[in-house]
Amino acid sequence: MARVIVIANSKGGTGKSTITLNLYQYFIANGASCGILDTDLQQSITLLDTNYEKNIALVDPHTSPEALKDIDYEIVLVDTPPYRTGAGGFMSVADFVLIPVNPSPMDAMAIHSILADVQEAGVKHAVVLNRVAPKTSLTDEIRKTIEAFGCKVLQTQINNRVAYSRSLIYDDLDSEANAKASVELSSLANEVLRLML
Ligand SMILES: Nc1ncnc2c1ncn2[C@@H]1O[C@H](COP(=O)(O)OP(=O)(O)O)[C@@H](O)[C@H]1O
Ligand SMILES: [Mg+2]
Repeated sequence: MARVIVIANSKGGTGKSTITLNLYQYFIANGASCGILDTDLQQSITLLDTNYEKNIALVDPHTSPEALKDIDYEIVLVDTPPYRTGAGGFMSVADFVLIPVNPSPMDAMAIHSILADVQEAGVKHAVVLNRVAPKTSLTDEIRKTIEAFGCKVLQTQINNRVAYSRSLIYDDLDSEANAKASVELSSLANEVLRLML
């Protein structure tokens, strides 16, 4: 039975697809069998796969939420579109919903709708702060704001690094130049697994 991790946020541009693909590459590199279900009409991951011949294990887009659990992977990552209904059906079969949020007041406020969905579905979930800028107290303030909504915020923070965008093409997060990003991503993957399992 596959473990399903849904990456969702009703807001666009928060890093859902970037984190999905980086997590996928991490899991594969660490010996897990993993697939991605791309439910976004923008098809970011599907297009990357085609244009850069990446050979990503893409799950049949017609797979129903019920059938997803029976898929022959240890982990299925579901990338979702930036609106509320997009993740809808898949919330109900998710083992974990990861919500990337950029640490700004606007983005923090915008998580109410996705929080309502995960709370209604009764699924484990947490926010990961993404595109974090160095040395600003704003990040901690946003963390507290989100925690005050009753939502867990992962200890792991993903900084704003070109390495995460680059690795979508080159899958090179494990190179020496990207050591900091690699440590963050490993920390993210392991924190999600710990909370999910
Ligand atoms: N941690 C990060 N550091 C630098 N750039 C990032 C990071 N996360 C996302 N991005 C960039 O932000 C933009 C939006 O990311 P994307 O994954 O497409 O968001 P979404 O899928 O939520 O719409 C992209 O240009 C992506 O390369
Ligand atoms: Mg996307």
